[in-house]
Amino acid sequence: MLPEFPRAVCRNAPTHPCKPLRSGHPQHMTGRDGGPQAYDAGLYVPEGVDLQGLRDAAASCHGCPLYQHATQTVFGFGDVSARVVLVGEQPGDQEDRRGRPFVGPAGGVLMRAIDEAGIDPAETYVTNAVKHFKFQQAGRGKRRLHKAPGVREMAACKPWLAAELRLIEPEVVVALGATAGRSLLGSEFRVTKQRGMVLPMPPLDGDGDEMARGALVATIHPSAVLRAEGADRAEVYAGLVSDLKVAARLLSER
Ligand code: URA
Repeated sequence: MLPEFPRAVCRNAPTHPCKPLRSGHPQHMTGRDGGPQAYDAGLYVPEGVDLQGLRDAAASCHGCPLYQHATQTVFGFGDVSARVVLVGEQPGDQEDRRGRPFVGPAGGVLMRAIDEAGIDPAETYVTNAVKHFKFQQAGRGKRRLHKAPGVREMAACKPWLAAELRLIEPEVVVALGATAGRSLLGSEFRVTKQRGMVLPMPPLDGDGDEMARGALVATIHPSAVLRAEGADRAEVYAGLVSDLKVAARLLSER
């Protein structure tokens, strides 16, 4: 079955689903009828709107199948004047229920680390590479277990992240973990090698549209702190804070 394409926001409506919106998009999957089925949130991203307009449109995004089981789209949170955008992987269980990124345990770690690094939370915008919760059910009525988003879901959702970043034009983007890093820097990204470095902000579309003034700092995902045990936990957390201090220093120099 083809997803619904709201004409008000679908720039490709007359020719969809075969005509790519722009280079690199969309990826196609095969629908149940054997025909091509778009896997691209770009079809839902309206032009010329503010953050609230993006948020409203994202609420009915059917750009990939993840919307089918998630409670709601979890769009970014913060002000358009934010100096730092923190990009996570995808909403977790609590974020999915509450409709706001980083309000669960990983969010608690992140907020503490930001504070300790000397970044003003009022100057941050938090969002995710993928805007719907992907999970598997442990059993009937049981816990919903996080599943990492795949490459196609990340690519499908990228137009939302790109639209947020274009509107906000942050001075620093912080990629939290491998998914955010790969979404922004490509599949070669390795958090172990590139964390804590000041990297140039890459093109958002893969077609050369640089974000002129921004820098990117990658670090681990805050949930890595929660997964670490015993004495390791303090060390993993200190590493997160240390990487965030690189972002804080960039802000203080500007
Ligand atoms: N993990 C993420 O990557 N994002 C959230 O919003 C919550 C947990």
